[in-house]
Amino acid sequence: MLLTCDAPAEPKSGEEMKGREMRLLVRGASQVVRVAASGEKVKLRESMNDLAIVTATEDQGVSIAVDKDGVIAAVGLDKEVEAQFPGASWAEVVDACGRSVVPGLVDAHTHPVWAGDRVHEFAMKLAGASYMEVHAAGGGINFTVEHTRAASEEDLLDLLLPRLHRMTRAGTTLVECKSGYGLDVETELKMLRVLEKARPHANLTISSTFCGAHSVPKGLTTEEATRRVVEQQLPAVKAAMDAGELKVDSIDVFCERGVFDVDQSRRILQAGQREGLLINFHADELHPLKGAEMGASLGAEAMSHLEEVSDEGISAMAQAGTVGVLLPTTAYILRLTPPPARAMIDAGVPVALGTDFNPNAFCLSMPMAMHLACVMFKMSLNEALIAATLHASHALRKGQTHGSIEPGKVADLVIVDAPRWEHLVYQLGGADHVISHVIRAGHVVHTRH
Ligand code: NIG
Ligand code: FE
Repeated sequence: MLLTCDAPAEPKSGEEMKGREMRLLVRGASQVVRVAASGEKVKLRESMNDLAIVTATEDQGVSIAVDKDGVIAAVGLDKEVEAQFPGASWAEVVDACGRSVVPGLVDAHTHPVWAGDRVHEFAMKLAGASYMEVHAAGGGINFTVEHTRAASEEDLLDLLLPRLHRMTRAGTTLVECKSGYGLDVETELKMLRVLEKARPHANLTISSTFCGAHSVPKGLTTEEATRRVVEQQLPAVKAAMDAGELKVDSIDVFCERGVFDVDQSRRILQAGQREGLLINFHADELHPLKGAEMGASLGAEAMSHLEEVSDEGISAMAQAGTVGVLLPTTAYILRLTPPPARAMIDAGVPVALGTDFNPNAFCLSMPMAMHLACVMFKMSLNEALIAATLHASHALRKGQTHGSIEPGKVADLVIVDAPRWEHLVYQLGGADHVISHVIRAGHVVHTRH
């Protein structure tokens, strides 16, 4: 290939070139994987295999121009893009020669605010204890709740920020973050405030989810816990939102046998929906409760896990346009039967991915989740990328602005140090090595050293 990595052409001397002030030019890339190129919100069924890609020619690489506001202004071959911005001044130019570019990765499901790891439970689970056995014995979520209640807001922020930075280094630029280790008004608000405080320090965008119904607190019946979520926690969260202290996007519940049943989950989700929150919850993970059918009937934006989803649940989700957020790390660690990813894709469910980072599944890396999804859930590489970008941002209702490399969208980009983007997934556990730059809203927020 004759492709060279020359600097952009300088304006000719004497020429009146008052070009636009621009933020960033990424140039010379061997391929830019745009994912979507025509404003599609989702790519269903076979189209989940179609990636929109701009590929370098014999003599030109591919460029992405980003305007002052961090918004993508153009994507195309180097000379085409350059010609669109004559005399422009670029605040930053990144040479992507020999490298590929994908959209910033979107992690559609995490629990990153907590104190007290559960490494001891990992050993118990490896020795044969199930997730629910550990939970019923007072471990699991309730163990983390005790430690999170005891931690100060500052301690929780100190624990959270390095986790978010690790996500950034693995290519995540937009992440959904849940509360849910408080289970009482005070601690749930504390967790949501910690997420709020993290925003200016984090190099990624946070979509925040209230998950006060993550577990039943010790000493309460599930009915009492349901009422406390609806009558105490949610109104307190809403009041803090109205006061401008919190921005919360979604409501979540762990709809599961021994936690919140389908009817209780419905009441909690509807209460959140009435307050304007998006519905995004844990459904049909360990037992086939028909949580997916219930969620679809409410028009849920997204449901996660779905290892035990029924055929009717899949059809209902496809009909309702609900995103199925699959979480390969959990199925892997707990040795669960994988969710029927192929049946979901075939039925027209927009499938997305998340790391599910939490003290049970300690994984902060979307490329790792994508790798596991390919091997364990039989998804193709293209499907995994669409799930980890376009569909994950749609699950958070941020698909208008995130999830693909299209003019008008936020310039969240990952530069992969290989001519083909698939190395991002192929190099198992190698994200830190294979990602050379992470760009958020046109600013380089991580460079590999
Ligand atoms: O998505 N299943 C419920 N919630 C989390 C686990 C939380 C925890 O174990 O601390 C999940 O896997
Ligand atoms: Fe979860």
